[in-house]
Amino acid sequence: MIWETIVTTRAANGRVHIAPMGIRVEGDRVVLAPFRPSATLDNVLDSGAAAVNATDDVRIFAGCLTGRRDWSTVPCESIPCDRLADPIGHRELRLARIEEDATRPRLVCDVVLERSHRPFRGFNRAQAAVVEAAILVSRLSMLPAAKIESELAYLAIAVEKTAGPAEREAWSWLLARVEQFRGESRQEKI
Ligand SMILES: Cc1cc2nc3c(=O)[nH]c(=O)nc-3n(C[C@H](O)[C@H](O)[C@H](O)COP(=O)(O)O)c2cc1C
Repeated sequence: MIWETIVTTRAANGRVHIAPMGIRVEGDRVVLAPFRPSATLDNVLDSGAAAVNATDDVRIFAGCLTGRRDWSTVPCESIPCDRLADPIGHRELRLARIEEDATRPRLVCDVVLERSHRPFRGFNRAQAAVVEAAILVSRLSMLPAAKIESELAYLAIAVEKTAGPAEREAWSWLLARVEQFRGESRQEKI
C-alpha cells in the first residue's frame, strides 16, 4: 500500500525542502523511494532524517508541483529536520538502510516519533482528484496529451461537485501548469 504524503527534509545549509511523495509502510519501518536526482534524497543521505506529514491541505501537493514550495514548517522534536506546521499528523524518521538503485533507491527508515495533531474528518473527492491531477502534472512530459485531457475531464467532476476554496485554488494552479505545458509543446512543434 502506498500513502501519498508530504515529505519534509533539511539540507546541510538548514534550508527546508518540501516534496509530495508516496511512502510504503513495511512492518515497523517507512520506505521512501525518490527518483534520482532528488533534493529529498540528497537531504536524507546528508542528515539521516526526514518527516512524513499527513495533510488534507491539497494546496501543498499542487503547490509543490507548480513552484509554490513556501509552506509553514516548524522544527521536529527528535530529529534534525522540520515538519509541516499544521498537518493532521506526522512521523519523524531516521534512515536505517539504503537499498541502492540507479533510478530509484529505497530509503528504509525507522519511525522514532509519531504525533496526531488534528482529527481526520473524512474523505473528500475533490482532494483525491487534486492529488491525482498533481501526479498527472508530475508526469506531463511522459504521458500522451489525450490521456492527460481525458483524466482531467473526469477528475474535474469531483472538483465541481465537492471542492471547497482550498481545493479550487489547488486545482486552478494545476490547470494553469497544464495549459503552460500545452503552450510550450505547441511552440516546440512550430
Ligand atoms: C502524490 C504525489 C506522489 C509522489 N511520489 C513521488 C515518489 O514517491 N518519488 C518521487 O521521486 N517523486 C514523487 N512525486 C513527484 C515529486 O514530488 C517531485 O518530482 C519532487 O520534485 C521530487 O523531487 P525532489 O526530492 O527533488 O523535490 C510525487 C508527486 C505527487 C504529486
